[in-house]
Amino acid sequence: MNPKHHVFVCMNQRPEGHPRGSCGGSGAASVYESMMGEMEKRDLFGKIQVTGTFCMGPCDQGPTMVVYPEGVWYKGVKPEDVQEIFEQHLENDKPVERLRLSM
Ligand code: FES
Repeated sequence: MNPKHHVFVCMNQRPEGHPRGSCGGSGAASVYESMMGEMEKRDLFGKIQVTGTFCMGPCDQGPTMVVYPEGVWYKGVKPEDVQEIFEQHLENDKPVERLRLSM
């Protein structure tokens, strides 16, 4: 298997009230679910890989994800953004600028 893109979605969950917050606490599970829904709908298994991860760093800007091989980071992703990420970036190689996180 040699996917065109590998997307890591932070799923880390910290307890409520934790000073660093967490992507899990900001709705990462719904984002991941939407990602998997799009994968199925677009029949992309084997072409794109989606992996849930633990903390990747910028917790206060979650839910975060990073797309490789480009290394493009996204912040504050909502389930309703997922379709756009697939259409523009994962299928047509144009990152969604309004969601980009600069590292
Ligand atoms: S909890 Fe998601 S980046 Fe830290």
